[in-house]
Amino acid sequence: MKITIIGAGNMGSAIVRGLVRGSLFKAEDISVADVNENILNVLKKDVPGLNIEWDNYNSVSDADIILLAVKPWLVDNVIDCIKFKMDYEKQILVSIAAGIDIASLNLSLEKHSDEISIPTIFRVIPNTAIAIRKSVNLIATQNASDEQKDLLLRIFNELGTAVLLNESHLSAGTALTSCGIAYLFRYVRAAVQAGVEIGFYPKDAQNMIVETMLGAAELLKTGGENPETEIDKVTTPGGITIKGLNELEANGFSNAIIKGIKASLATCQN
Ligand SMILES: NC(=O)c1ccc[n+]([C@@H]2O[C@H](COP(=O)([O-])OP(=O)(O)OC[C@H]3O[C@@H](n4cnc5c(N)ncnc54)[C@H](OP(=O)(O)O)[C@@H]3O)[C@@H](O)[C@H]2O)c1
Repeated sequence: MKITIIGAGNMGSAIVRGLVRGSLFKAEDISVADVNENILNVLKKDVPGLNIEWDNYNSVSDADIILLAVKPWLVDNVIDCIKFKMDYEKQILVSIAAGIDIASLNLSLEKHSDEISIPTIFRVIPNTAIAIRKSVNLIATQNASDEQKDLLLRIFNELGTAVLLNESHLSAGTALTSCGIAYLFRYVRAAVQAGVEIGFYPKDAQNMIVETMLGAAELLKTGGENPETEIDKVTTPGGITIKGLNELEANGFSNAIIKGIKASLATCQN
């Protein structure tokens, strides 16, 4: 199975590096096209055997999967460049461009092609943890068979966790996971600031907070409990944790998070 990735920036490069560490693709099965020759040369040095192309999209013709990893406003232009090389009956088109829905991808394909059939299309929304193969990858599709859905889930499960959603839920999922990773970083930053004020060096505070976060995540993941059940275990009546939690709520902690997620969703839908 061969894949061509168009765009070798943050996301495209991370996907290449992640895929070669998985079981489904060897470096030789992956082609990467980018307008920036330097970026391709760096990637090729790190991933020997990788096929790179900076002045054409020739590998598109042989690919089973074509993955668009360029900025959203370039998607239409790239589709225009690759349309003659595509086999609409056989190939799968995957776009990770934020905010470009399947209807827009269809429009680009129809506008730029005389073909009657539209290829199988997937939209995937990863987050930046794809660089370490720990991304939540939200997947929506049009026209895909069960085998194709299974294939995409297998590919993106090797880059973290893949979740198949109806496209109507993709924006909400984006707010929770693709934007949500930044909210968690902001929590860490705030806790580090507090840690310094109460006597720790930033590095030590960050280390303790990150490990605490990993432990909390693991508890929820393995136990499957509601977070409130885990909170009950730490909140002794009259104790120190409930004092802190109540102070957080008095300052709008839950409300701020809910409003932040809804603001991200509202912007995503515009
Ligand atoms: N970052 C995230 O958290 C995140 C999450 C989900 C989805 N996404 C989506 O992922 C996509 C890529 O984001 P990114 O952060 O990886 O962007 P990026 O770092 O800018 O990478 C895009 C790459 O594509 C290259 N490029 C530009 N025009 C091209 C063309 N015509 N043909 C081939 N390559 C071309 C760019 O080169 P130049 O820089 O020289 O133009 C750049 O190397 C975006 O659509 C974004 O919405 C990102």
